[in-house]
Amino acid sequence: MQILVTGAAGYIGSHVVKQLLEQTDYKIVIIDNLSTGFDSTIETLKSLDTTKSRIKFYNQDLSNWSEIEKIFEENCIKEIIHFAAFSQVAESMKNPIKYYSNNTINTTNLINIATKYGVKKFIFSSTAAVYGEVSSENIPIKESLITNPINPYGSSKLFSESIIKDVASIKNDFKYIILRYFNVAGADLDGKVGECHNPETHLIPLVIKTALGKRESIKIFGDDYDTPDGTCIRDYIHVCDLADAHIEALKYLDTNESDTFNCGYGYGYSVKEVVEMVKKVSNVEFKIEIEKRRVGDPAVLISDNTKIKTKMNWTPKYNDLELICKTALEWEKRI
Ligand code: UFG
Repeated sequence: MQILVTGAAGYIGSHVVKQLLEQTDYKIVIIDNLSTGFDSTIETLKSLDTTKSRIKFYNQDLSNWSEIEKIFEENCIKEIIHFAAFSQVAESMKNPIKYYSNNTINTTNLINIATKYGVKKFIFSSTAAVYGEVSSENIPIKESLITNPINPYGSSKLFSESIIKDVASIKNDFKYIILRYFNVAGADLDGKVGECHNPETHLIPLVIKTALGKRESIKIFGDDYDTPDGTCIRDYIHVCDLADAHIEALKYLDTNESDTFNCGYGYGYSVKEVVEMVKKVSNVEFKIEIEKRRVGDPAVLISDNTKIKTKMNWTPKYNDLELICKTALEWEKRI
């Protein structure tokens, strides 16, 4: 049986494919247009396939509907993990159409083709951005909290969630798992794949680049929040634990119904704590500048992960900020 992974040349997708190769027998069809992912990542994944026959890569854009349909005709795809999407909040505010076109319209088309070709399981990469600004009494955030995205990125993912649910409600054999990621960080422990965004906007890789002298300073966006040290608090989840949640989600659907799960550790670190941890693991002092708040940053985002831990057989293995920063540092040294 073949599984389709879209966006496998990207950060999270590449870690999931590596784990699929290591932990399962799936033959893997990859669709990626390499717009934000890298050909070299596909080559790395192929090099990890000891059989040399488990990965089939299509350099294709999901908006080329007829070409995507041909891929379904050529293969026997019954399961999908769908990552291909744009994911920069600030860019989505400047160019919403880009986000709705790729993240929502292309997802709709993919689901349409998937149901036509008898796909049974659909794992969807969603985000904590669907919750929007969350008041302190709703932290940690439960999946049942009302969704209220405050940027087109979050909205584009939430629309896709609704479309997936609506289709599943009329197609009994089409099941889904929606995974809402909190702050994904770190890299593969073997150092084969890791995070590489252009431009990079995420805190941990930016602090690490600063420690390695690739940037002059790290800017802290606001130290006047209502948090213990005044900086924002986030729930950082190691990318390998997140990848594992996708594998567990596939198994879960064998005997359970469609559902939505938060992916996080249920614990938060402040920006200053992250900066201190990077100093510790790199043993480098670097320049820190306090800037004004970044628009749209909520003070605290922490998941309630009770549901995924109790309903799905997901047990985090790397919930350790030091390990997250160390693996990210090792990866950044390589690139
Ligand atoms: N930050 C800085 N300086 C930087 C970069 C970030 O101080 O140079 C701060 C931010 O203000 C924020 C925290 O570090 O308080 C984390 O910021 P990131 O940009 O790393 O991550 P976000 O929390 O903004 O967003 C991430 C994903 C989104 C997703 C969101 C959901 O990038 O796609 O988590 O929680 F929607």
